[in-house]
Amino acid sequence: MDYFKNDINKQYFQCDYMEGAHPEILKRLMETNMEKTPGYGKDDYCDRAKAKILEACHCPDGEVHLMVGGTQTNSTVISAILRNYEGVISADTGHINGHESGAVEYTGHKVLALPNVDGKLVAADVKKYVEDFYANPTHEHVVWPGMVYISHPTEGGTLYTKAELEALRAVCDEYKLPLFLDGARLGYGLVADGTDVTLDFIAKVCDVFYIGGTKVGAFCGEAVVCNKKGYLPHFFSTIKQHGALLAKGRFLGIQFETLFTDNLYFKIARHAVDMAMKLKKGFADKGYEFAMDSATNQQFIILNDEQFERLSQIAVFELWERLGDGRTVVRFCTSWATREEDVDALLAQI
Ligand SMILES: Cc1ncc(COP(=O)(O)O)c(C=O)c1O
Repeated sequence: MDYFKNDINKQYFQCDYMEGAHPEILKRLMETNMEKTPGYGKDDYCDRAKAKILEACHCPDGEVHLMVGGTQTNSTVISAILRNYEGVISADTGHINGHESGAVEYTGHKVLALPNVDGKLVAADVKKYVEDFYANPTHEHVVWPGMVYISHPTEGGTLYTKAELEALRAVCDEYKLPLFLDGARLGYGLVADGTDVTLDFIAKVCDVFYIGGTKVGAFCGEAVVCNKKGYLPHFFSTIKQHGALLAKGRFLGIQFETLFTDNLYFKIARHAVDMAMKLKKGFADKGYEFAMDSATNQQFIILNDEQFERLSQIAVFELWERLGDGRTVVRFCTSWATREEDVDALLAQI
């Protein structure tokens, strides 16, 4: 794979959606390009993709809906679940709270942000929030907690453990709150070293979750999985109402069918994680500090001003947070498309 029109003197680690799509997807799209199929996802490719996803999730009673992007998926799912006086509980660092231009709020629902611990929402904090809500004699005047949103991996690249997800599930069961997991980068979390969380476990513990394609090899696409058929009644129409129903729906079906054939999704995610671990070790060996201990494809490194200026000359990365003391947190991302020689070239210069 060659990069075109980039600065050839720089290594690119800005995000995990800088390239087009995995060549296998491109090949399938080319092979099927002139076929005529029904629109709006009512085609065989979508049917097969959905069947393969449910099989991978060990979730025969579930249902899959293919959508285009993460923000769209979050706001559409969340607004489909909530009643009009309810809000969604999220970690303060949750993507819906900080990076979606108020997309959830735009649907009329408040994001109820709780402090994160290592980027995660803690079950005991959710329980306390809901208990405090009901203990308030005037709670009917307040936005009701209507569901719980988490992402896996989190914004900081950290991962929930099975026990942490079970604890969240227990609180959700106690207070009848649906649990929704944003898996925009799910592949990179599922293949990380040391994780005990599997796809079928996620399908059991969450009411709804999605498998991100956009950041894991697809041109675009997010596969929403409900672990019971009809969990989101008439969700097809809800997607349409949100302007999120792709007319040429097979574009998503072909991509997900390809990703869930021969384990491609997991293989390419593992490549990204391997590259991230190499990058992490290279920075650590040179004494760089990390803002989070991430086992996934996003690495958050703390740079002083001199390092920031110097690395900006040789690499493209994302400015994450100015710490206000002359240090800056930056994000280096690897992806399914990251070339090992680019990681080596970067590490040779840091
Ligand atoms: C965890 C998470 N969810 C959702 C999104 C939103 O995806 P999109 O940019 O496709 O709307 C992102 C994007 O970075 C993300 O990191």
